[in-house]
Amino acid sequence: MGKSTNTGEMILDGLKTLEYRGYDSWGIAIKKGNKLEVEKKVGKIGDSKITLGNSEIGVGHTRWATHGGVTVENAHPHLDCKNQIAVVHNGIIENFEELKKELIKKGHKFISETDTEVFPHLIEENLKKEGFASSVRDSFNVLKGLNAFVVVYAVSKEIIAVKNGSPLVVGLGKDGLFISSDSIGLIKYTRDMFFLKDNQMIILGEKPELLELPGGTKLPFSLERIDWKIEEVSMGKYKHFMIKEIFEQPKVIRKIASEKDEIGALGKVIKNSRGTFFIGAGTAYYAAIAGAYFFSKIAQKHVNTQPASEFNYLEDFLTDESLIIALSQSGETIDVVEPLQRAKTKGSKIASITNVLGSTIYRMSDYKLLLNAGPEKAVASTKAYVAKLSVLLMLAYSMNSEIDKASEVLLKAADEIDRLLEHIEDIKRITKSLSHTRDIYLIGRGLSYSLALEGAMKIKEVSYVHAEGFAGGELKHGPIALISKNTPCIVLAPNDETYGAIMSNAAEVKARGGMIIGLSYQNSSLFDHFIEIKDIQEGSIIAQIVPLQLIAYFLTLLKKYDPDKPRNLAKSVTVK
Ligand code: G6P
Repeated sequence: MGKSTNTGEMILDGLKTLEYRGYDSWGIAIKKGNKLEVEKKVGKIGDSKITLGNSEIGVGHTRWATHGGVTVENAHPHLDCKNQIAVVHNGIIENFEELKKELIKKGHKFISETDTEVFPHLIEENLKKEGFASSVRDSFNVLKGLNAFVVVYAVSKEIIAVKNGSPLVVGLGKDGLFISSDSIGLIKYTRDMFFLKDNQMIILGEKPELLELPGGTKLPFSLERIDWKIEEVSMGKYKHFMIKEIFEQPKVIRKIASEKDEIGALGKVIKNSRGTFFIGAGTAYYAAIAGAYFFSKIAQKHVNTQPASEFNYLEDFLTDESLIIALSQSGETIDVVEPLQRAKTKGSKIASITNVLGSTIYRMSDYKLLLNAGPEKAVASTKAYVAKLSVLLMLAYSMNSEIDKASEVLLKAADEIDRLLEHIEDIKRITKSLSHTRDIYLIGRGLSYSLALEGAMKIKEVSYVHAEGFAGGELKHGPIALISKNTPCIVLAPNDETYGAIMSNAAEVKARGGMIIGLSYQNSSLFDHFIEIKDIQEGSIIAQIVPLQLIAYFLTLLKKYDPDKPRNLAKSVTVK
């Protein structure tokens, strides 16, 4: 909302920036006099234009379906019976079915299958007895689940936002007031932001007012300044964010190599903990596994790892001396937030390694470390993963007071990645040999096992080719049954204690007709294709992921898919 009257276009522009969060349908509502005008579409925003007229107040949403299929009716914003209240929502209203039944009894008409639609109808019902803000507050207070809403009311000049789950950030700019689920949607207009906390409601009008829920007590609020730059959220000379972010990796690693004090301080905390756990989701979990190997190998410290979504079922043994270290690019993943909340109730301490200042996980942590990788926009995580590996390596070395050694290794890894990126055409050529394959297997041992898992994830999530990573030693216990003539197998064979055994596994695959792509410091007669990764101790492990990211990227282009927005996925998953 603001001085400017092209609010609809500004919202559309903002939604494009946020599309990585969900992109199956989208919609915008703007206030026109005392009415709302709404436009909704199914599919990605792409080059869409909107036809809504000018206004100073509006709201928009890009959806990742949870309740109800991908249809125009299910796209947000959702409205009340009189089309006076427009609501956009992230999260899940767990008690929506019972609320919907009651509202239907009272005569409300529903047109979507979503849980969201109960909220505008609840507000409509409460407006019969009280004002806009109180209606939003009282409607919110009866909901179960973790949710965030932005509400526009046709007869009000205020926008109200409220949350107890998914993120919301308010931006105060020269040209108006903004609210978004991610700060990167706002940096075009302002760097001065306020991150709404759970159980807070903000009324954006002449003078923004912050209230605490359920009661509604007024709260003071202060702004934080975000230092991300606009160039960082645009593609520049690159065709896709994924390749741009792959190329940014050496810079990210060099920066982390210089952050000895901040990282060393967290290292001290880890040293003193009794029971240390790394948790994360997706790529962050695979980074956590690598972390456990780094800690064992370099610091001789045992660290447990679990996918964050499983940690809830495995945390009965936590105590007030335990330390949970959450890894998360966005800092918002609900599967990570929930077990942290539970761990907190047991008095355990929380440390976080995230990429987003002010994010939920960042805020709830006792010890906070930022990755400083800059905004990552491609759904498939690349530079944030490499940043996590780099931080974990520094942490592991810091335990032995050898952080300088870690910096040296990282600087060499950055140089090696630069060299690999100069030979990008070789990797493109090798990827062509995979263009008609149905399955790709990756094997590694030790640290490289975690890389095999992450490499397989990269390939499958963007190219939709079935890819699986295995521990080399596990191959003969089942997966080798899948190998037949020309089955591609990527073998990760760095110059470490795993080399001999992983090459034996490669020979086993080769003997069954498999086609081997070897990533190693030296060529071998077993390899059909060879990608050289120079030997730089654990640094070679970090460089090793880059060809795998590039194979995933080029395979996706060969298949003519969009690497930045793979089907069914969203970058930041704030629902369970
Ligand atoms: C989603 C993304 C993955 C990501 C995971 C964890 O599933 O699609 O790419 O690894 O969330 O995200 P986080 O922001 O917590 O690292």
